[in-house]
Amino acid sequence: MIIVLLGPPGCGKGTQAQRLMDAMHLPQISTGDMLRKALKDGTPLGLEAKKYMESGQLVPDSLVINIMKERVKSPDCAKGFVLDGFPRSIPQAEALDVMLSDIGKKIDVAINFDVPEEELIIRISGRRSCPKCGAMFHIRFSPPKTEGICDKCGEKLYQRADDNEETVRNRLKVYNSQTAPLIDYYSKKGVLKNIVAGGGTPDSVFAKVKEIVGF
Ligand code: AP5
Repeated sequence: MIIVLLGPPGCGKGTQAQRLMDAMHLPQISTGDMLRKALKDGTPLGLEAKKYMESGQLVPDSLVINIMKERVKSPDCAKGFVLDGFPRSIPQAEALDVMLSDIGKKIDVAINFDVPEEELIIRISGRRSCPKCGAMFHIRFSPPKTEGICDKCGEKLYQRADDNEETVRNRLKVYNSQTAPLIDYYSKKGVLKNIVAGGGTPDSVFAKVKEIVGF
């Protein structure tokens, strides 16, 4: 099964992708995580992506499409995958359609998470992530058992460099102009499902995701 998670920064794509990955044993493909790893490793891709990510702009389509072309062909993707943060523009969505058709696959469902803007800012500014295992917490809504420490692996949690209010507001503007048109794109293809996720807990949102995915 191929599932696309759509929605603005902080709407819960990563949180729900991790739950789907655990429940369905499908890999989570997060272009944001892939780019942050490239940045950490100091690869040419990471160095090129840095300036865009730090200012909240999208990394150029050509770079992201290239890394995805390889990723979807990996053996662990054979039974499907969960896309978190890709596609992010119409050219990326069109490129994904071609990539999938080349390997005889297609998108089963695109789930859009609808969350009001002020709630997104509260969620993002309180997010803490684990650099080692990728687990995610929120200082108010899902705090770790010990402050600043990952429940799963004991590593020290960190706050992402692009999670400051100024960059978040820019990421929201970029989302509205370049990514929101995907809602219409997938609606026209008949695969869009919308979840009103504002005010819901991660568990209550996941219950709606499970209903849509059918397990
Ligand atoms: P990326 O890493 O993809 O970030 P994003 O889309 O901005 O999304 P976030 O990771 O901020 O939020 P999320 O929706 O995953 O929410 P989460 O579950 O973490 O991209 C970063 C940058 O990389 C981009 O700006 C761009 O530069 C570049 N990039 C990435 N992909 C690209 C692409 N395809 N093309 C071009 N450039 C690309 O939740 C947020 C917080 O809220 C957490 O603390 C969580 O615990 C909490 N939370 C989650 N759900 C709930 C809930 N129901 N109630 C309360 N709190 C909740």
